[in-house]
Amino acid sequence: MTTDPHPKYPDDNAELFIGAMTGTSIDALDLCLCDFSKPQPRLIAHRQEPLDAGLTALLRRLARTNGNETDDAPPPPAVDAIDLFGMADRQLAETTASGVNRLLEKAGLTNQAIRAIGSHGQTVRHRPDWQEAAFTLQLGDPSRIAELTGITVAADFRRRDLAAGGQGAPLAPPAHAALFPPGPEGRIVINLGGIANVSILQPGRDPVGLDTGPANTLMDAWHSHHRQGPFDRDGQWAASGTAHPALLDQLLTEPFFAAPAPKSTGPEHFNLDWLKRLGGKWIETLPAEDVQATLLELTVESIARALSPWQAERSGMPITLCGGGAYNGRLVERLGERLAAPVESSAALGLAPECVEGAAFAWLARQLLNGQPGNAPSVTGAAGPRLLGGIYPA
Ligand SMILES: Nc1ncnc2c1ncn2[C@@H]1O[C@H](COP(=O)(O)OP(=O)(O)OP(=O)(O)O)[C@@H](O)[C@H]1O
Ligand SMILES: [Mg+2]
Repeated sequence: MTTDPHPKYPDDNAELFIGAMTGTSIDALDLCLCDFSKPQPRLIAHRQEPLDAGLTALLRRLARTNGNETDDAPPPPAVDAIDLFGMADRQLAETTASGVNRLLEKAGLTNQAIRAIGSHGQTVRHRPDWQEAAFTLQLGDPSRIAELTGITVAADFRRRDLAAGGQGAPLAPPAHAALFPPGPEGRIVINLGGIANVSILQPGRDPVGLDTGPANTLMDAWHSHHRQGPFDRDGQWAASGTAHPALLDQLLTEPFFAAPAPKSTGPEHFNLDWLKRLGGKWIETLPAEDVQATLLELTVESIARALSPWQAERSGMPITLCGGGAYNGRLVERLGERLAAPVESSAALGLAPECVEGAAFAWLARQLLNGQPGNAPSVTGAAGPRLLGGIYPA
């Protein structure tokens, strides 16, 4: 992936797609305008669209497993979880559309120049491990995005893979392979979003990948519980504490960490209730900064363990970090030490960490419009390659 500082668009040969991503952290909507006309995709423009406080609260409430409850005031009795779902579905679509329109303005383009928007939507529930009852649910009405932008929308990428027996996640590994084509030595990409996922890319081989567990979701939750602000900037608070080996061991007994791929997870599983349940007395008694330091180590250790089956292959593979956690200096430092390998931000490959997942959904939209599969069954465990998502014409 490269970023062109002086793009000359519209260009008749350009193949422009916009990826729209709001991940499990519900921190912002990342909008990435990419050109796929060359073998090496290019980022043309990026916009981080803030989510207004009301929508953030609504999405957080829906994403919590007790969707009818709230920390503050109870909902008005006439509004149930389905009403909340519908309201959030509409509002996120409106935010996405206005963000896209502003992104186009910034890039000096009209909607005519864009082939499609790949909208991930907000995951409000991901239950891949519910066996015969497994499901995954993203909201952000694609019909409304198409109506408000005049651009074709591709959306609902995960459910087809899940219907084909896959996890519906992670979808990023084949996109990572397209965005950061690996050299002969291969490449590992680690996405440090709310949840961490890794892609192991080797030339001429199907991509491998899996969710490894929490990246930021537990650190964010513990930070918000004890301090001002949604996250631990640069990992400074974690760095002020000391990781507690017994608590870390206790948390690592979580069966998800040892389970084989394919696997995926979310904050439905890794949340403060999980931490209190598994951490037991340590959570009550340790200084809060030591718990934060331990959670950072949990992210590092669970990633290292997930990569251990590729210990031999991964020697010499460059390790590329993306997602907001790539800005957490302490986390990056500890990952490099634990993996005993240099790690570098995706920015070094021309794509800022916050743009990678958005660019991946631009790529997924292009796959769908070109009639190409979006999933990697080698990652998700689906019965086969599938066209992912639905098309909502302009
Ligand atoms: N400067 C920073 N220092 C520490 N952490 C940061 C910084 N900037 C971002 N983060 C972390 O990154 C998180 C957001 O990352 P990102 O947007 O990649 O996650 P996400 O939206 O949950 O995506 P995903 O779906 O991939 O999990 C924030 O919640 C925060 O924890
Ligand atoms: Mg995000």
